[in-house]
Amino acid sequence: MGQAMGDSRLKDRTAHVIVCGNEKGGTGKTTTSILLTTALLHKGMRVATVDLDVRQQSLSRYVQNRRRWTDQHGVALDHPHNVPINAVQCDSRQASYDREFGTLLRAMSAIERDYDFIVIDTPGHDGALMRLAHSIADTLVTPLNDSFLDLDVLARVDAESLKIDQLSHYASSVRDARRERRSADKGLLDWVVVRNRISSSSSRNKENFSEVLHDLSLQLGFRFGGGLSERVIFREHFARGLTVMDDLAACGLETAKHRTSDATARLEVATLVDSLRLPVDSAARERAQARREWMEQVRAPHSNGNQALDLTDIACA
Ligand SMILES: Nc1ncnc2c1ncn2[C@@H]1O[C@H](COP(=O)(O)OP(=O)(O)OP(=O)(O)O)[C@@H](O)[C@H]1O
Ligand SMILES: [Mg+2]
Repeated sequence: MGQAMGDSRLKDRTAHVIVCGNEKGGTGKTTTSILLTTALLHKGMRVATVDLDVRQQSLSRYVQNRRRWTDQHGVALDHPHNVPINAVQCDSRQASYDREFGTLLRAMSAIERDYDFIVIDTPGHDGALMRLAHSIADTLVTPLNDSFLDLDVLARVDAESLKIDQLSHYASSVRDARRERRSADKGLLDWVVVRNRISSSSSRNKENFSEVLHDLSLQLGFRFGGGLSERVIFREHFARGLTVMDDLAACGLETAKHRTSDATARLEVATLVDSLRLPVDSAARERAQARREWMEQVRAPHSNGNQALDLTDIACA
């Protein structure tokens, strides 16, 4: 990491780097990366994605799916520029790591000036690349399933007293990454924990979980972002490369039955994005507004009294 932070190419970057990280698997890192990416595109931001999960490459597949589906259906949607960091097999582990490390540095310096945001998805296990990503993050988003099992990734908690016994390996890594970031360029890593797959039921266990998480936030210096509920819509359109933050109605994918729940899901993601306090500039807002106006114009009823132009026939036949 020291080697990376000493690299001046990372010091004068312009893009805001969001890293979705958690040392535990299956907590929603890729889901959150995808939702944030499409939400930012929808705001008119230029977004690049970096897929550090060299084994699964789910984020890369998502971006490919989006390109393929929109091409096949003639839908005009914005796309992120995706950089997969491919696994390399060299003679030694160190050599493989050096190659991947070099690839990430080159990728970052190639894109950091051309995009407003770089969203980095990381694998669910510790590794040098994952630690490097944490040390170059401006915003670290850690999705956490609403359970004590997932809390273990932050700290060991005494079952009876609910007191924090010991900080976890991941929490210590984030603390180190923060220190490196500060000493390298005085940058601050804003750590935001996002509760994921929240269910609507209430229980004593849930209350305890909230209390412990609150204590941990004070000890570890993270804050809470808007949480995400368990929703089918958050995984439904992966194969199409779409999310609820895309204009699903224009894509012919929003049914009357789901309109209200989709709107609630959209609000949830928008609340999450707002809670991250990202630098969304006015130029981007103007681009997004122009696009919205254009979409509305295309969808509006014609002045000659004809039916509203149904984009589903044109765009998504
Ligand atoms: N809020 C949610 N609602 C419904 N399904 C969800 C939600 N969050 C995640 N999932 C589903 O849970 C599974 C794991 O999510 P995801 O792949 O995003 O986790 P991950 O942290 O990236 O996992 P890995 O560590 O394996 O990379 C996926 O099937 C995803 O669709
Ligand atoms: Mg993943």
